[in-house]
Amino acid sequence: GFSWKLADHPKLPKGKLVAMIVLDGWGEASPDKYNCIHVAETPTMDSLKNGAPDKWRLVRAHGTAVGLPTEDDMGNSEVGHNALGAGRIYAQGAKLVDLALASGKIYEDEGFNYIKESFATNTLHLIGLMSDGGVHSRLDQLQLLLKGASQHGAKSIRVHVLTDGRDVLDGSSVGFAEILEAELLDLRSKGIDAQVASGGGRMYVTMDRYENDWEVVKRGWDAQVLGEAPHKFKNVVEAIKTLREAPGANDQYLPPFVIVDDNGKPVGPIVDGDAVVTFNFRADRMTMLAQALEYENFDKFDRVRVPKIRYAGMLQYDGELKLPSHYLVSPPLIERTSGEYLVHNGVRTFACSETVKFGHVTFFWNGNRSGYFNSELEEYVEIPSDSGITFNVQPKMKALEIGEKTRDAILSGRFDQVRVNIPNGDMVGHTGDVEATVVACKAADEAVKMIIDAVEQVGGIYVVTADHGNAEDMVKRNKKGEPILKDGEVQILTSHTLQPVPIAIGGPGLAAGVKFRKDVPSGGLANVAATVMNLHGFVAPDDYETTLIEVVD
Ligand code: 3PG
Ligand code: CO
Repeated sequence: GFSWKLADHPKLPKGKLVAMIVLDGWGEASPDKYNCIHVAETPTMDSLKNGAPDKWRLVRAHGTAVGLPTEDDMGNSEVGHNALGAGRIYAQGAKLVDLALASGKIYEDEGFNYIKESFATNTLHLIGLMSDGGVHSRLDQLQLLLKGASQHGAKSIRVHVLTDGRDVLDGSSVGFAEILEAELLDLRSKGIDAQVASGGGRMYVTMDRYENDWEVVKRGWDAQVLGEAPHKFKNVVEAIKTLREAPGANDQYLPPFVIVDDNGKPVGPIVDGDAVVTFNFRADRMTMLAQALEYENFDKFDRVRVPKIRYAGMLQYDGELKLPSHYLVSPPLIERTSGEYLVHNGVRTFACSETVKFGHVTFFWNGNRSGYFNSELEEYVEIPSDSGITFNVQPKMKALEIGEKTRDAILSGRFDQVRVNIPNGDMVGHTGDVEATVVACKAADEAVKMIIDAVEQVGGIYVVTADHGNAEDMVKRNKKGEPILKDGEVQILTSHTLQPVPIAIGGPGLAAGVKFRKDVPSGGLANVAATVMNLHGFVAPDDYETTLIEVVD
């Protein structure tokens, strides 16, 4: 029968502290001036790279290595941390939705049949990120869903868009809106009353995460549900173009707007009896809205009016909370994660990050599961992030605080594993501010040093890696790798990248003879879990992706 007990590693001892450090958005790319990691002073990461050649390597962090549909899909933190923690590759949200749409199964399952009950009398609302970034949502999936829903009975459809500019180039929202408008026009020509109803920039409207700032969700609620926003327009393309003209405006932070008819009346508030789908497949930035839409008791902001709706998520965003209770596609079931195994084998675990990435080293790491496996053995510490600012203003973020808390956890002797995410490269990289990202990378490097110094003091082991690329490349490039110029200017890349990420192992506790194997050249993030289990003195379960290390006598 099944047992949580892990076999002893034949050569590696137990009881060494292992520090698992994940730099967010820290890939490996050729050095040039748009590689902020290269430009920044990063002596710690440099010394790992230039140290023992068999203790540093690259691993894949994008595409199929992390369960995404194709090799053109950049990595992201959700799938990256899922892979790091699970030690296996699961088909992820984007892929599951593709399959369900392609086979038509999405229209047969419980979630769609539930919302469909509204179609005869009421409107179907679709709320989500308008983007082809493939991180939270994809425009082609929205297009298919619009077609499919109308073919399956929806007669009135309203789309509530959130503009991206974070997983895709800033300014691309105009083109997406034009594609969406064409799709809706086509539906209208078939007699379906289909329109965009509201919009706003993802970072300012709706898509907050980890309860950093409920005001963001409230702004969305007001526009989407109540039909109230400071800006009113006749159509979405005009709305986005006009709002982008304001000084400093960008897609990520567009203010909320509603679309109004000729009488100035909003075309799509959500009312009793309507159906609502949040079409993002990724969880972290949809769970707050999902709570507002689903919970009867809710005190995060005044919803003013709470329509009785049939609500489904594209996926179920939180398996523990069963939120939302209805969903169109079943999420990957990630079980027996490395964290759960290690806790069952007595490994006392500390996890820490600041708010914006806290769920990454806990919820995503643990297979999209909230809470502790065993609160006696685990401690998860969240350091509050600055809120209400863009992180180029404070590029050091809470790196120092994360470093200190983790150092203290190591020196306390209370833990066998400390696990951290250092967010700077990613969060500041997403702002597109190259100078600030350089500062961010330096701060992240300093945090790594603090943790490694503590590891040295207690005779432990460190594993330093990253979840995906971001800060190592800040411009859009052609196939040859040269920056693409538009009107004589480079195009700033706020998104993640397709680059591999480094992984380094070391520390005084690392047994002599441990080195990276040469026979897993295409190793990816999912190979890290077995590696870490080995370093704790265990053999990984058989179905885990193979370890990256070997022990030579
Ligand atoms: C975001 O949600 O901020 C980006 O779309 C993806 O960033 P992450 O995958 O690094 O969290
Ligand atoms: Co990111």
